[in-house]
Amino acid sequence: MDFCLRLKKLPPNFDVVIPFIRFEKELEKELLLANSIIHFKNFKIYLVSALSKKPIWAQDWWPQTKKIPIESKSAALKILKGQKNRGVYYQAVEVPLAASLRKDLRELKVKRIEYEVPSPFDFKYFTWTMLDNNHLLICESPVSQFPLGWHEFNEDKDSPPNRAYLKLWEVLALNYISLNKNDVAIDVGSSPGGWSWVLSEQVAQVHSIDKAPLDPKIAKRENIIYSSEDAFLVDPTKFLDCTCLFSDIICTPERLLGLVQNWLTHSEVKTFVCTIKFKGSCDFNILKEFEKIENSMIYHLYHNKNEVTWIKQES
Ligand SMILES: C[S@@+](CC[C@H](N)C(=O)[O-])C[C@H]1O[C@@H](n2cnc3c(N)ncnc32)[C@H](O)[C@@H]1O
Repeated sequence: MDFCLRLKKLPPNFDVVIPFIRFEKELEKELLLANSIIHFKNFKIYLVSALSKKPIWAQDWWPQTKKIPIESKSAALKILKGQKNRGVYYQAVEVPLAASLRKDLRELKVKRIEYEVPSPFDFKYFTWTMLDNNHLLICESPVSQFPLGWHEFNEDKDSPPNRAYLKLWEVLALNYISLNKNDVAIDVGSSPGGWSWVLSEQVAQVHSIDKAPLDPKIAKRENIIYSSEDAFLVDPTKFLDCTCLFSDIICTPERLLGLVQNWLTHSEVKTFVCTIKFKGSCDFNILKEFEKIENSMIYHLYHNKNEVTWIKQES
């Protein structure tokens, strides 16, 4: 069907989903499992029937997006300037009129995130895009704290030994969990120590467990206690001071689930942040098993690759 005709035929309200680049297949499978109808898609945007929650594999979700027909540039400007908040434009298709409109608008600038726990950023904004010259697509209440779910940080290129720390920065800055200075953390599969480094600045003590060593500059931090051990053989009853567990171990999701269940049953840990890694495509059945665990959620973090992050926090 012709592109413009397809847009005309769109219902007046639908949801916009922005996929993570390279994970469109996972998103589509998830949409299928949620019985969501895809009205339109290209590699940068999906217009779908109403969803009840943000898909794990979506970078951003604009619920209840409105399709507004426009007759002229001035009519479009009036609508955009009439919104309560500043707008953030997302380019899914190159539309010259959108570029021209943007020159006349005060937009909310999308900037790199300054790492702070939790981030104080709480600007209200609306999102918009155009797929042709005749319609504005506007969402008044996009769900992401940071526009478009674009979680690029001003990175620390000196302290951490690798870039894995960005996953934990994202979890903490976005307040997916909160830690306090009295917490004691266990970080399993911790080498070379990016996560242990982040944790050492947030909690009292970090038990850092890996068969491989830590980077020397991380190992010498006073509140990091390293043990060279197989994480699956660690006995939770020996770590009854631990209040939170972090796992970035490379292992099958099934093995990780076993480890989590062991710690849920035999420890005092109330907060979990665990990377579930896939060898091939995402196993939605095993994700359901993780989701059954009370007070837990699964995210595909901006900094996750072919993996997702299971997070549980009990108050
Ligand atoms: C992705 S890396 C972790 C990176 C780490 N989060 C960081 O920030 O530096 C995965 C780690 O899992 C460790 N690992 C794999 N199997 C393990 C096991 N059975 N016991 C302990 N560590 C294991 C590997 O040695 C590797 O260092």
